[in-house]
Amino acid sequence: MSFTVQRNPNPLPEAERAAALANPGFGQFRTDHMVRIDWTPADGWGPGAVLPYGPLSLDPATSALHYGQLIFEGLKAYRQPDGSIATFRPEANAARMARSAQRLAMPELPAELFLESVRALVDIDQAWVSDAPDASLYLRPFMMATEAALGVRAANAYSYLLIASPAGPYFSSGVKPVTVWLSTEYSRAAPGGTGDAKCAGNYAASLAAQAQAAEQGCDQVVWLDAVEHRYVEEMGGMNLYFVYGSGADARLVTPKLTGTLLPGITRESLLTIAQDLGYSTDEAVVSTEDWRAGNASGELTEVFACGTAAVITPVGHVKSADAEWTVGDGGPGPVSMRLRKALLDVQTGQAPDPHGWMHRLS
Ligand code: PLP
Ligand code: COI
Repeated sequence: MSFTVQRNPNPLPEAERAAALANPGFGQFRTDHMVRIDWTPADGWGPGAVLPYGPLSLDPATSALHYGQLIFEGLKAYRQPDGSIATFRPEANAARMARSAQRLAMPELPAELFLESVRALVDIDQAWVSDAPDASLYLRPFMMATEAALGVRAANAYSYLLIASPAGPYFSSGVKPVTVWLSTEYSRAAPGGTGDAKCAGNYAASLAAQAQAAEQGCDQVVWLDAVEHRYVEEMGGMNLYFVYGSGADARLVTPKLTGTLLPGITRESLLTIAQDLGYSTDEAVVSTEDWRAGNASGELTEVFACGTAAVITPVGHVKSADAEWTVGDGGPGPVSMRLRKALLDVQTGQAPDPHGWMHRLS
């Protein structure tokens, strides 16, 4: 499998790239190239191409723009201590993208093509992978329906694209606990819906709730189940973990995957890392009453959110229409921070990788 390569004749000058890498934020800058692979019913996936990063030309009737057949992924590449570059569990992102494709009646991109696209882009844009602590290259694979047609049906033309964006520490002020709003007015996902797919529409539907959380003085929205508004599902674009007890006896509970949660790769990896560190783990339903009561009794000591972009983010304070409480002492908890370091150490090559999660690219 080889990709054709068309080099960008005008890459960002080195000094400007260095300035971007010194202060990347999240998603603000993109690298010099992108990958594109087109699909047709007759030929399936065509040849992969590495192209100069640039605008797409789309017919205004492109069906993704109307009916939202649009899925995406998010993973990171990290500079390793020996200077090489590696990604974390990219085959898990490829598998999730295939499941998202099935749910949205789109063609599945074979995992080998997904991995090859990552390798090809990181290879040509390797200068964009900083070796600064906490730095990474965020990779954004996505696929959309490109057929120009206004009938509501699965399209018969698709494009897979991969772009990349340098990322620094998600929070410039370090790991800052967030305040969350328990949303009972809005739902992210309902049984039978698309909650376990990573499709663009889920994020569009989340924005009004996020705005409501901000109006309530909160950083993030916490999603509850759509039927009873009682069981905790996720926080914004991250999964959640509840820590009971402390020290070596700490027990971690993460909401179980009911079909309405996104199966996070960080969530799944942390179940394993927590067990490696000797903590007991459970996937269970957690109600808002459990959260409040556990907090009041002191049994629940820490809560954190996890995802690729922000790794682990402590939850410090909770607000809902009828209650408000502080989690533990409101600061980052020791179990959360230990897990965060253990995960980042594997990703950045500071610790051994006993589960073979790192995929070396160059
Ligand atoms: N939940 C939602 C809704 C997300 O968008 C994401 C991010 O991809 C996650 C959870 C965390 O998933 P992962 O750990 O695979 O990044
Ligand atoms: C995550 O990585 O946790 C995300 O939710 C990514 C986000 C930018 C969609």
